[in-house]
Amino acid sequence: MAFLGSSSDPSRFPFVPGIPPVTVVGAEGNYLHTADGRRILDGAGGAIVNNIGYGRPEIAETAAKALSGNGYTVPLFATEARLALLDRLVGNWLPPTMSRAMFVNGGSESVDSAVRISRQHHVAKGNTDKWKVLGRATSYHGATLASLSVANHDRRREGLGPLLMDLPKVDNFDAEQVIKTIEAEDPASVAALIMEPVTGASGAAQVAPDDYWPTLRQYTADNNILLIADEVMSGFGRTGRKFGVDNWDVVPDILVGSKGLAGGYAAMGGVFATEAVAEPLIGHTVMYFTFSGADLSCAIADRVLQILEDEDLVARAATMGTLFRSMLEERFGDHPHVADIRGLGLLQGLEFTKDRSTGADYNGALAPLVNAQALTRDCWIYPAGSALVPDAVMFGPSFTVTTEELEKLVDITAESLDAAVAELEGSSTRVSG
Ligand SMILES: Cc1ncc(COP(=O)(O)O)c(C=O)c1O
Repeated sequence: MAFLGSSSDPSRFPFVPGIPPVTVVGAEGNYLHTADGRRILDGAGGAIVNNIGYGRPEIAETAAKALSGNGYTVPLFATEARLALLDRLVGNWLPPTMSRAMFVNGGSESVDSAVRISRQHHVAKGNTDKWKVLGRATSYHGATLASLSVANHDRRREGLGPLLMDLPKVDNFDAEQVIKTIEAEDPASVAALIMEPVTGASGAAQVAPDDYWPTLRQYTADNNILLIADEVMSGFGRTGRKFGVDNWDVVPDILVGSKGLAGGYAAMGGVFATEAVAEPLIGHTVMYFTFSGADLSCAIADRVLQILEDEDLVARAATMGTLFRSMLEERFGDHPHVADIRGLGLLQGLEFTKDRSTGADYNGALAPLVNAQALTRDCWIYPAGSALVPDAVMFGPSFTVTTEELEKLVDITAESLDAAVAELEGSSTRVSG
């Protein structure tokens, strides 16, 4: 549904001037509508956000009702919308031991808050030596300075070194190596370990071996280290389970979520924790953001979660994810430029290579071209990767995606990959990752 006729110049829009962006004037189902009349198949739910499809009239009704209410309420006070969302989260979504929630406005805020809360938790218990928050070698947790510090996305940290905390990084796949790093740091100095259940933007849907999360759950519990699951991308059904950690039956101490929580209809995020994490903080200040838990965002999140429940969309993410994975394997399993196909549910990734037999890569040059080629074919896929995963793309369509749309997504990706390789092989210039 188009809501805006735009004749103004889109090249004015980006903060950093560059190629003029596509101007989106509306969206419906799994398609974005542009000012020049195109219908773009969204194979990535925007930024792996959209999960119930675009243009849902129920959400517009919910938003109108929420806006006719309080307007603004300081985050210290409860409101009906805040309580309703809390009830639904605790009753239907979060692991049974997780009963505390703090609402924020997005993923970075949720991670930043979790980092603060873990330090404050230990200080409140008298463990003032515990301050380090360790993250993985391949990880992205947000764009604030704390969330960049606990993660390791080289391109997104570029030039920021002196402003970031110098925190060690742990192995992506080997739990014993993670433990060795923590032991070398001294567990008594480590406040928390933060990890994505499925590594998103930096790793293009990497999944650790089955023993990784359970081993580290046990080790962190034994060493008074808080385990933080960053479910900003993997949460609220994206992997075919309510949360990514459910794939290994692990309950973290703190779980942060955002993107799927309000399905892209509102800026929303949350920090969820056990009583054991929150209880020592009684009497201390855990600072909120001015717009945390806005009624509009809480009401929309509550409605999005209700739609996920009523339409059984988490189960659909699992079945459509399995179908999509088989389509990807059939099309790209033997592709000379695809090194790996991976992911869980409707969070899937392709890692590219220059030469499969040698493992050589294009130094990050291929994925942006695949992405651009797909866009010229009216399809949006998500560029991903960082130092250890130089060239990759990710898929994360809405849970309402149809079989035909998935077929189209695979067809366009295959055409775009071939066209991008031809473009790269035909050109003498190499773009740096
Ligand atoms: C796992 C993860 N954590 C945190 C963030 C940061 O979220 P936001 O961009 O909403 O601040 C992202 C964003 O992509 C993410 O994928």
